[in-house]
Amino acid sequence: MPEQPARRAAPRLEPPRLDWPDRDPDRVVLIDEDGAAERRPAGELPKPELIEIARHGDGAGLLLWADNHFGLDWLLRRGTTVDLIYTDPPFNTGRRFEHYDDRLEVGLYLSLLETRLVQMRDLLSARGTLVIHLDDRVVHHVRLLLDELFGPENFRNSVVVKRITKNLQHQFQQVQALPVAHDLMLVYSRDPSRRYPKPLVPKPNGPAHPEGYWKDFWSTADRPTMRYELLGITPAKGQWKWRRSRAEQAVANYLEFTASGHDRLLDWWRRDETREFVRRRGEKVYHWVPPSDTRFADTLWDEFCAYSFRRDFPTEKSEPLLERVIRLYSEPGDTVLDPFAGSGTTGAMAARLGRRWVLIERGEQALTHIAPRPAEAGAGYRLCRAQGELGTLAAR
Ligand SMILES: C[S@@+](CC[C@H](N)C(=O)[O-])C[C@H]1O[C@@H](n2cnc3c(N)ncnc32)[C@H](O)[C@@H]1O
Repeated sequence: MPEQPARRAAPRLEPPRLDWPDRDPDRVVLIDEDGAAERRPAGELPKPELIEIARHGDGAGLLLWADNHFGLDWLLRRGTTVDLIYTDPPFNTGRRFEHYDDRLEVGLYLSLLETRLVQMRDLLSARGTLVIHLDDRVVHHVRLLLDELFGPENFRNSVVVKRITKNLQHQFQQVQALPVAHDLMLVYSRDPSRRYPKPLVPKPNGPAHPEGYWKDFWSTADRPTMRYELLGITPAKGQWKWRRSRAEQAVANYLEFTASGHDRLLDWWRRDETREFVRRRGEKVYHWVPPSDTRFADTLWDEFCAYSFRRDFPTEKSEPLLERVIRLYSEPGDTVLDPFAGSGTTGAMAARLGRRWVLIERGEQALTHIAPRPAEAGAGYRLCRAQGELGTLAAR
């Protein structure tokens, strides 16, 4: 026999690395009051203290009115850890919004983001998760950057969320590109061993079968060990869906129901929702699927818009969006951080869902938009701002 050539191990390729002129993670990009960018060596920056300027209720939440570099640094120096970061930085749109400027050259934008992303990573607990909300303009750059900073093995998903489209192009016979109807959220874990609870989300229109329904108990998957005799039928091919003991228990459950004199299986099931039912009709066996108002979440979130227009803040994100993010990636009692807080949707929803929260915002919207929101959710909080030389950077 001819000799098999020795198998060579596939070379381990270094993941591609994103580079841009002036990339230097040791220098921090700061934006001054006039929107001008300044790069300062991280080691030479003073460490501003944050001073409490207001306290409401139990002070469990924390709102930092500061450039997030200083806010994140302050949290790190105090040994804080957080379990979920949802963050929605400017998207590098080249626009000047009413409450903030989003007109940095792309390299500068990435430099600003890189140092903050490193700080965010270092604040995450071992079971922590980062969800960063972006759009097509920079998401490809940021994904490469996050692969480098978190490790590609920590990438979990990119999630598509719905935005409002402006159909101004209808008037033309030719278009340059399709109108953009989505944003993207990148999800990274801090540790590859992190597992999340089953991601069940509400069905927008309630259960499709309010009474439950009977479904074929036979499947085309082909395991001979699952072709046992059940209710007088032994499949010649394919298989029963469940192992024998489970199926026989479900047959017994159905017999118990028929013997009970009740006529509505749904009511019978409600007494003990762990019970399953299997029955035969004609030459087929069926199992009963109870009504469900939840479905397994996937990466297309198009049941609601990712934006809200309630607070006179142009890039306000919607409460259903934050509710889903917070429910899927954190548990009650966890701490949720948003270092680009805007109008404060993350804090408001975190408080409403029983999570602790930390928000950082450098604009005056910290006072005008964010500060009133926790009270609406019945939550107490502390409001702090950077003091000293860098205090001016914190306030516009
Ligand atoms: C897209 S908005 C966030 C919107 C927010 N998710 C909401 O629901 O309202 C981005 C925010 O990040 C803030 N921001 C930008 N650079 C910052 C920095 N270096 N430190 C703190 N906040 C910053 C802007 O002032 C702006 O309010």
